Amino acid sequence: MSPSSSKIPYGGDYNPEQWPQEVRDADHRLFTKAGIDTLTVGVFTWSLTQPAEDTYDFTDLDRILDQAAAEGRQVCLATGTAAMPPWIARKYPEVNRTDFEGRRHRYGQRHNFCPSSPAYRGLATGIAARLAERYADHPALLAWHINNEYGGVCYCALCAEAFREWLRDKYDSLAALNDAWWATFWSHRFTDWAEIEPPNALTEHWRGPDHTAFQGITLDYFRFTTDALLGCFLAEKEVIRAHDPVTPVTTNFMGMFRPLDYHRWAPHLDFASWDSYPPLDAPPTWPALAHDLMRGLKDGAPFWLMEQTPSTTACRDVNPLRRPGELRLATFQAIAHGADAALYFQMRASRGACEKYHGAVIGHAGRDDTRVFREVAEIGRELEVLADASLGARTPARTALLFDWDSWWALEISDGPSRPVKYQEVVHAYYRAAREAGADVDVVPHTADLTPYDVVLAPALHMVKGDLAARLEAVAARGGTVLTTFLSGRVDEHDRAFLADVPGPLAPLMGIRIDEWDARPPEFTQPVAELASQGRLVFEIVRLRGAETVATYGSDFYAGTPAVTRNRYGQGEGWYIATALDQPGVNQVLRRVLARHDLIGPYADQEGLETAARTAPDGSRLLFLLNHTAEPARLTAHATATDLLTGKQTEAGAPLTLDPRGVAVLRLQ
Ligand code: GLA
Ligand code: ZN
Repeated sequence: MSPSSSKIPYGGDYNPEQWPQEVRDADHRLFTKAGIDTLTVGVFTWSLTQPAEDTYDFTDLDRILDQAAAEGRQVCLATGTAAMPPWIARKYPEVNRTDFEGRRHRYGQRHNFCPSSPAYRGLATGIAARLAERYADHPALLAWHINNEYGGVCYCALCAEAFREWLRDKYDSLAALNDAWWATFWSHRFTDWAEIEPPNALTEHWRGPDHTAFQGITLDYFRFTTDALLGCFLAEKEVIRAHDPVTPVTTNFMGMFRPLDYHRWAPHLDFASWDSYPPLDAPPTWPALAHDLMRGLKDGAPFWLMEQTPSTTACRDVNPLRRPGELRLATFQAIAHGADAALYFQMRASRGACEKYHGAVIGHAGRDDTRVFREVAEIGRELEVLADASLGARTPARTALLFDWDSWWALEISDGPSRPVKYQEVVHAYYRAAREAGADVDVVPHTADLTPYDVVLAPALHMVKGDLAARLEAVAARGGTVLTTFLSGRVDEHDRAFLADVPGPLAPLMGIRIDEWDARPPEFTQPVAELASQGRLVFEIVRLRGAETVATYGSDFYAGTPAVTRNRYGQGEGWYIATALDQPGVNQVLRRVLARHDLIGPYADQEGLETAARTAPDGSRLLFLLNHTAEPARLTAHATATDLLTGKQTEAGAPLTLDPRGVAVLRLQ
């Protein structure tokens, strides 16, 4: 169930409660100029709508929604429960979180509530219920936005008790828990549930949240935290549903956000949405990976881009501007990857506090003749032209990449083999290679149906759960290719090592056996000559058990032994990459894999040109071309197509030029 719209909703977070009516009127005039039709409101209104426990006041919110409706705009209505009013924290101190160091916080900031606090739960569902009751039938209402960017961890006594309950539910007996956590190690056998403490700086941790004596306990606390915050979401959703059975409900995620396993949340969202603030200097494949991860949450259904900055962020030490054309490129990239809405944070810049310098469609001077406003308005015009052409479209990917929060967590809280190995970096290297070769990629959970795919990439699949190994074998048996890397197939769902040769349950498919691995500092490299590449970080020493060598290590006592292997399995292949190859090395491997399945795209050799295919509900095939360089891209059209943004038709074989940072949305014939 996703919001229904005749075009891509365009707009974003708007906080008119900070402004007098004349500013709101002026804002709406500018919204009209910029083609802005959708406003996310209510994210920060709780202290106004409920100034005291028994006092509600919706006068201003009524005005805000009524004005939106009168101006023909739709509203994504937030419950606003991420930003608590001060009185709640004073009256119910237990709503304040206890941090990793064990300190009980006092009132301040936002995203600061204890997920296990019954007072918080009661108040959050109380305001959500009243909002739903009041606005369910409001003509402006398009979607519900629960809370805001759920995250953070609490270690208070309420959470400790809730964690114990969660564990009882999961393990049933202390014997099972002791076994899962391998508690006999360091004499930890628990004889009473009350002995179990949340893992933090006062208990199992040292040097911070990633250094734990008991990975099993810490992993379970990550999972518990995911479920505890999900419980807050579900409680609000339930009260909304009691008053409004139809309007789609979401909460805004943060893409590759380590603390929460969004796959556990996915079934409970009506549609996925997320806020894209790529790290500085990230290559374009970084936000693309996050888009594809978000699209994978609901089996490939479109998601909303709930926030992005039109120009700069404010929270970083240094906040560079988006260059002319970059916003448009980022917006169409999101649409190319499955976004059915393009929303900003924020419509008007706040006058005070920590986000007053955050980029906004309308700045402090309220002008419409700024560069940013012009770019925003131009995108607004183009989205009107695009109309419904891409709405509801699906990505016809034949390559899947497994993304697994458990593997991410387990890998990065592990003592040994190597702390510098970062899950996202390994995953991104393989994703990037596939995307730059022109393959569309579905980023999916380990439980996904793998039958639609020719290629399944499983980089750094540290933890192997359930029947995954058998399903990967089935992919290869029917002719597909499965690729995995170093530090895969190591542990079971409880982070206990497999009592088998590495890579554990993946070993038969890979046709190899690993007994030893060498981890070296990040600056150390090892030549892998056959790929003209270098390996880094971890060098697993591979013994062939049916596989053939593709590339070898060039030095040390394991010189000449395999760094990359390929195993014939049924009609297909299993590839194993035993070290962190540099990007050119990963690219070469991936292009060999993709070529076998004819999955190299038509513009794979055009540097900086991204392509993304989508199939619209009416069956029409769209191809997005995104020029990520500051130079024109000169191509030869591979098919006859019409650019939906310009109406221009290009014949197959004719020249096709994209401006610097230019975009084309081609409908193929
Ligand atoms: C997040 C929040 C917004 C705002 C922006 C600023 O995405 O959801 O409220 O703070 O960051 O970048
Ligand atoms: Zn708590």
